[in-house]
Parts: sequence; structure tokens; C-alpha cells
Amino acid sequence: MNMAILINKDHKIKSSNRNQVHLVQTEDIDQQPLLVEEQTYQAYKKLQGFLKKQGIEIGISSAYRTLEKQQEIYEEFIVQYGIETANKLVAPVGTSEHHSGLAIDLNVKIDGHFLETNDELYQAEEIWKKIHPVLASYGFILRYPKEKEDITGYPYEPWHIRYVGKFIASIIEKNKYTLEEYHQQFSGILVVNKKSGMTSFDVVKKISQLFGIKKIGHTGTLDPLAEGVLVITIGKASKIAELLTAEEKEYQAGALLGVRTDTLDITGKVVASQPVFDNANIEETLKTFNKTYKQKVPIYSAVKIKGKKLYEYARKNEEIKLPEREVTIKDMKLLETDRDTFMFQCRVSKGCYIRSLIDDIGKSLNTYATMTKLVRIKQGKFSIENASTLEEIDQGKFHLYQIEEALEYPIIEVNYDLEKKIIHGQKVPNLWQIKEKVVFKNKTKILGIYEVEDKHLKTWKNFS
Ligand code: DAL
Ligand code: ZN
Repeated sequence: MNMAILINKDHKIKSSNRNQVHLVQTEDIDQQPLLVEEQTYQAYKKLQGFLKKQGIEIGISSAYRTLEKQQEIYEEFIVQYGIETANKLVAPVGTSEHHSGLAIDLNVKIDGHFLETNDELYQAEEIWKKIHPVLASYGFILRYPKEKEDITGYPYEPWHIRYVGKFIASIIEKNKYTLEEYHQQFSGILVVNKKSGMTSFDVVKKISQLFGIKKIGHTGTLDPLAEGVLVITIGKASKIAELLTAEEKEYQAGALLGVRTDTLDITGKVVASQPVFDNANIEETLKTFNKTYKQKVPIYSAVKIKGKKLYEYARKNEEIKLPEREVTIKDMKLLETDRDTFMFQCRVSKGCYIRSLIDDIGKSLNTYATMTKLVRIKQGKFSIENASTLEEIDQGKFHLYQIEEALEYPIIEVNYDLEKKIIHGQKVPNLWQIKEKVVFKNKTKILGIYEVEDKHLKTWKNFS
């Protein structure tokens, strides 16, 4: 189960999530049997142990609930507090976080006794004040904080804590989000330093699991063999994915001379070889590649022709004319060379395949050449020095770039009148002599990206 799963009045829990949860049995404050989701319980035990050392004794009054149990609680509440309070405090059956086992209602011991009523629990504010600040370090959040009723749907419940795992809890705490706000607002650009061996999709999957967010995308695929900068979009930042994909990229690449493979890299099957060659001219030859030219798309690529991916033609041994793309190569530099290998560095435009470039370099050297290594060291403004490995991200060592930071466009903070127009997607006069695109924001957040149209600016992407 996704630990960040959102369950509220608008998001009923799916029956699969209710049925597949791993529950462990423990006891409530009245020594009655009680079920809790396994990881939640382990985290709870650690929290309990820590608080005990601080002189605070906590217990569980409620955790996992079946649909029937939720109905029972609702009816008990009606008897004890009246229907109005019951409707306000008890989640409609099927919409309670307690169905997931990830929610715990805490109770606290005062003068040797656990508290008995909601009123007593509310009055224990001095103790809650000591408990709430440490929740995140055990992977919990206070699910219904003060003054967030319009967002969460429930008034302040100092006792109801929700397990989301330490990683997400620390983000929620840092940004003072509710879980609703985390799902709606958490967004940005993450610069990953991918290891060789993983697909770009493996990275997306890992990030999606870690953050508990489905809307994750990557810009500019890196093949499994390739490593280095993979720019990932989270949430609404996916709206600028095409801009990030189009940016210039910088690579360091390695090549082996005298060998050609079907995939044009070292993981492929050797299809031609030539043992004797002259590598004296590598440096000069590389310089001749500082140009714009029509490059053949490699057959082992996902580029589609007549609705079919090129590699599907290759696998079925079907003839297909490879499409060509205009690419620009700059700052080509030889890094090192040996008898039959060389390493180089260059900057390339969108759509350039380094495998194809190496194949073309081989031809210029009157031999074959195959890519052995590929490291993306830069994409747009993101360099490998600012990229985090998946392990570092897991440890919270990453920077999340905001949309406006990721782009090179001017950023303009607008007044209230203009903000209203932008929110509604209306055209605005080009008062700032914008040439291409502009980022509009208010004091706190990005509103939209506009683009030039005649003397006006019109919406390109709306973020409000
Ligand atoms: N009291 C919380 C909202 C529940 O019933 O799940
Ligand atoms: Zn609760």
C-alpha cells in the first residue's frame, strides 16, 4: 500500500486497500484486542518508548476499523454526544483512515489513568504540545491540525495520528502541509544522478514510491547503459516537461574502435569488426563534428514510424528506412584516448543520439565505433554536481527546484488585478517587451507561463 494514500470524505478507501493491509494484533488502553498496520505499529512502539523516557505515557484507544466498526462508533457517538457532533467528528463509513490501519487514536495517561472523554483529551493540550513536534521523526503526522477543517474536513483532533513514513512526514512537517495539501501542492523538479543499469522508468517508479505520488515524469530518456543527469518532474511541474526535454544536453562518452553492434553500443550484438585501424586523427576528426547535420535515428530506439517503434522493426528483422533529424553539436572535446578507445565531451541539441554520433565518428575514421559509456553531465541548467543519487534522495539529501527556477524565462510578480486575469486565462498586454515566454507569479506561488502573441501575451500553461 502507498503509505501516503489519501483517504477523506472525497477519497473513499478502495476495498483492495482495506483487504491487503498487513495487520498485527496488540491491545488498546482497556486491554481489548486491537489491530494496527504492521509498519505503523513498529513506528508507534518507538514513539511510545521515546515518550516514556520523557515521562509521557501513551496508549492506543483505536486503530484499524472494519466498515462495521466505523458504523458502530458513529452510533455510539450519537448516543454520547448527539448527531451533530457525531457527523462532525466521525468519518462516514468507508472514508475513515482507520480502515487502512495507518491511523491511530492516541490516549495519554494522567495521574495513572487514561483519559475518558473527548473533552478531557482536548484539555490535555500541554501534553499534546510535547507529543506533536516529535511525530514526524517517527513517520507520523497530526492528521487533523488546528484551523485546517476546511481542507481536511474535520476539526482539530489532537489524538488522531497517521503513519506516512519518515520520508514523507518530514516533507509534510517542513512545509506545514496537511495530507490533502501535500497531494495537491507538492511539486517541482528533481535532478537525479542515475546509475548505469537502470531504465529511466525504473527511476520514475522509485521516485513515485518514495514520495507516494503518482504524477511523476522524466524529461529526456537515458538508456539503461547511460548514467548521470535525469530530470524528473513531480506533480504540476510535469506541465513544463516538454520545455525541459528540449533543452541542450552535455555528455561525456566513451567509444571502442573497430567494432559495430546492432544497438550501436557495447550491450549489443557485434555485426561488423575491423581489427586494423589508424586512430591518429581522432582529435582532428572530432573537431569536424562541431556542426549541424542530419543524423540517422538509431534502429534500437523508441521513435515511432507508421505507428510502430523502430526497435520493433529491428526485432522482427523488418526493413525500414531510418528517419533523419537535424542535430547540432558544439564544444566537441577529446578527453582521453588509448589504442582502440577514446572518451570525448560535447554539447548537443534536442534529439541527438550519442550512439549515432559515435557511429558517424567511426565512419569518418574509416572504421567502426561503438559506444561503451555515456554520462549526461548537464541538461539545461542542471549539472551532475547538483544531481542526487536515489540513495541520497532516500536520505532526504536533495533539492526540489521550483518551476520558475528551472526555466530561463523572466519572472514577473503581478498585482491582484493581473493575477485575476491570469487565473482566468485571459490575454494581457505585453508591457514588459517579452520576446518568448514569461513566468507570472504572485507573492507565494507561480500562476502561469504566458507566451507572446502579436502585441499581447496569452496563456501557455496555467498553474492556478
Ligand atoms: N475521527 C476520524 C475523522 C475518523 O472517524 O476517521
Ligand atoms: Zn482517529
